[in-house]
Amino acid sequence: MKLNDRYLLVTGGAGLVGSELVGRLLEDNKVVVVDDLSNGRLESVPDGAEFVRGDVSKPETLEEVVTEDLDAVFHCAAADKYVDSQDPRAQFDANVGMTQRLLDRMAAVGVRKIGFTSTSTVYGDAPRPTPEDYAPLEPISTYGAAKLAEESLLSVSAHSRGFTVWNFRFANVVGPRFGAGVVPDFVAKLTENQDTLTILGNGRQEKSYMHVRDCVEAMSHVVEHATAAPGPMHTYNLGTATTTSVDRIADIVCEEMGLEPHYEYTGGDRGWTGDVPKMRLSIEKLRALGWEPTTESDAAVRAVASALAGDVRA
Ligand SMILES: NC(=O)c1ccc[n+]([C@@H]2O[C@H](COP(=O)([O-])OP(=O)(O)OC[C@H]3O[C@@H](n4cnc5c(N)ncnc54)[C@H](O)[C@@H]3O)[C@@H](O)[C@H]2O)c1
Repeated sequence: MKLNDRYLLVTGGAGLVGSELVGRLLEDNKVVVVDDLSNGRLESVPDGAEFVRGDVSKPETLEEVVTEDLDAVFHCAAADKYVDSQDPRAQFDANVGMTQRLLDRMAAVGVRKIGFTSTSTVYGDAPRPTPEDYAPLEPISTYGAAKLAEESLLSVSAHSRGFTVWNFRFANVVGPRFGAGVVPDFVAKLTENQDTLTILGNGRQEKSYMHVRDCVEAMSHVVEHATAAPGPMHTYNLGTATTTSVDRIADIVCEEMGLEPHYEYTGGDRGWTGDVPKMRLSIEKLRALGWEPTTESDAAVRAVASALAGDVRA
């Protein structure tokens, strides 16, 4: 689907990925954003987008924002991302229920194109680089399990309800706008205590970090080019071919903040229960579609660390 002169809805459009995507889409399209601001910020929503504050899991919100004149929906809203909450059932139900209700509303009004923000964690602790057809899919976190269940619902919509689905399995996405994750976490900790940095796990966890600008370029590229491929469900890994260890991230953040703290570790090979310690996605399918990341993993981390360190100094 060409991304110009379209009317598009972005759920979670005040968040890290959603707000960047909205900026990209606004270049040539009309965009409405829905976000409950549970984690996003109103000031992140780019000028030019129509903004509706609402909970995507509520029927009244869906009736307001999912209308028959939409060309497609990009579903970026998610609760309790990255880390499993204390209440796994609530976390699972919130995300899976939201996606099911969104799909039902789309089907009811005849909007049948959706881009979905899934995750590398659906693969669990898998061999690397992990291709899209890797099996068995055995997530080790409730977050990953919910995303896999949501992918299954998208598959049903694709195969039995006439939907076209672009399913993006993201590596770790980092960006200069407010967001969660290891880089903002280190910056916040070092702003509080310049002498000691506490690192979750043993620091040797190693993952692919993709700059959010590359992430939304890749999403747009897949939407514009993958429709020629067979099948209504287009699943693509989005990441970098390179990885960065947690120790390296700590070094980069410290360099950008001009600090030399002592590192202490909480220990173990995982940062938290459900953390996949090593992650690198195969991006061969994306490359075959003619797209390459412009920023490698270390450089993406440094760009974000530099921007966040600048915000702290300002
Ligand atoms: N950032 C990453 O590294 C990463 C990696 C893999 C997958 N993802 C997925 O990509 C998507 C975007 O991630 P992000 O990093 O931008 O997260 P984010 O938290 O910055 O953005 C999510 C947005 O959704 C909103 N939201 C949450 N629940 C909502 C609800 N019920 N109704 C309306 N809005 C709601 C939040 O307020 C927030 O603005 C999420 O689905 C996430 O699971 C992100």
